[in-house]
Amino acid sequence: MPTVTITINDQQVSAQAGERLLDVARREQAHIGFVCDGNGFCQTCQCRVLAGNEHLSPPNEIEKNWLPQQRLDDGYRLACQAAVRGRGPIETITVAEELRRLLAAALNGSGTVRRDAVRDLTIYLTRINLDQLVFYPWNMFSTVLRLISSPPDLSAERLNALLRDAQAVTGRAWDERGNAATPPPIARTPARGSAEAVSAALRAAQRANRAARG
Ligand code: FES
Repeated sequence: MPTVTITINDQQVSAQAGERLLDVARREQAHIGFVCDGNGFCQTCQCRVLAGNEHLSPPNEIEKNWLPQQRLDDGYRLACQAAVRGRGPIETITVAEELRRLLAAALNGSGTVRRDAVRDLTIYLTRINLDQLVFYPWNMFSTVLRLISSPPDLSAERLNALLRDAQAVTGRAWDERGNAATPPPIARTPARGSAEAVSAALRAAQRANRAARG
């Protein structure tokens, strides 16, 4: 079976066709959320596909239930629904990681708080929450109905795997945050508070992260 190269949060990993992005991320302990264990309910597995979206399965009804078209057009996907189907490469960053980098920039690593970075973080969080409101409450109803008709696996084995993976992913993210003593500079060229400003901040954080890893 051909191996597909995926870059998740600047970390290059390998995947097999048919694997879900979430399963790859969990296996590689990439920073990602999966509170509902991949059942399409919590949205904490959201990620932004930076390249290679065409090498993933198209957005399904579960993703369309949560993500407005604009967000899908921006490359956001639910990692528990998006499966590798092409030859790659694919590059993605998780929302959990975007938030971690914005938070690291805001805290500045020196005991001071960068107000511009706090503003970028606030804009980012606001946008996520506004996007989620678009389909409320119908997205909740349809998800509950789906889970009733097709209940998730709540076996002890499954829950153990969930806890084990959550511990591994969280522990690694904390390590990386601890190492990020010097936050990346925030590009200020775009208009203050704009979507471009947030994207520029994330790109700068990515570049600094790559440089730190050599
Ligand atoms: S893990 Fe909960 S929606 Fe994907």
